[in-house]
Amino acid sequence: MIRILVNGALGKMGAETVKAVSGDAGLVLVAKTDATDELLHIIKETKPEVAVEFTHPACVKKNVELLLRAGVRPVVGTTGLSAADLADLDVIARSCNLGVLVAPNFAIGAVLMMKFAATAAQYMPRVEILEFHHDQKADAPSGTAVKTADLIAETYEKINDVVLDEKELVVGARGGTYRNIPIHSIRLPGFVASQEVIFGGLGQTLKLRHDSISRDSFMPGVLIAIRKVQEITGLVYGLENVL
Ligand SMILES: NC(=O)c1ccc[n+]([C@@H]2O[C@H](COP(=O)([O-])OP(=O)(O)OC[C@H]3O[C@@H](n4cnc5c(N)ncnc54)[C@H](OP(=O)(O)O)[C@@H]3O)[C@@H](O)[C@H]2O)c1
Repeated sequence: MIRILVNGALGKMGAETVKAVSGDAGLVLVAKTDATDELLHIIKETKPEVAVEFTHPACVKKNVELLLRAGVRPVVGTTGLSAADLADLDVIARSCNLGVLVAPNFAIGAVLMMKFAATAAQYMPRVEILEFHHDQKADAPSGTAVKTADLIAETYEKINDVVLDEKELVVGARGGTYRNIPIHSIRLPGFVASQEVIFGGLGQTLKLRHDSISRDSFMPGVLIAIRKVQEITGLVYGLENVL
């Protein structure tokens, strides 16, 4: 039985993770922690092997560092970690001889959407990303949109290699640009997490869309990550790397 701590357990994703871990015969939930708890103290008392982290972009890096230095393997769903943060966590994890798995999206369908988007970019090199989330999401763009743009740009470095003759009459109307790809972030009640990757070509468009319509969509991926994080050393970024 793998001993699990859930950090952010009172939040939307944390509560869903508590349910999923409790229903898995191979896992035992030893601790639920949230913003007001003394994380290090609870780790010492309950001795978790893996910690699932769904908290807030402002504290995620500090939490993951603390977990690693305390000898706990983190599975991280919280978004907002920069490339520099990820590089730092890789170094810390290696120095502790532990693994850390960070996934901006644990839904298998979203992982497939990103993979298909990277493939499509080789044939249709004009693309924009729209991402849709509930209105309590703290960061924009989403980690999934950033990861999708990274995968596309790494697959086809000349993506969107045109200069458009346009003027933005309302600031932000054309979205934010990351790796030369416009990203449009929509925040409305009713959404959990959705994304469209839209390619445009001569006389045609291709739209790849994924919808998480409930938070249990993320749980099979979280349960896989809990097991896989025990087999790795250093950082693995993206669920697709352990499937
Ligand atoms: N990777 C994925 O597949 C995936 C899927 C969905 C969401 N996410 C991401 O997961 C994160 C959490 O999302 P959510 O919807 O669950 O948010 P949420 O409902 O706001 O829950 C976050 C919880 O973490 C707590 N928290 C804040 N600071 C903390 C700290 N220092 N230590 C421990 N707990 C702390 C919050 O407490 P307070 O309310 O008191 O601040 C809250 O209970 C976000 O970054 C979101 O984008 C990832």
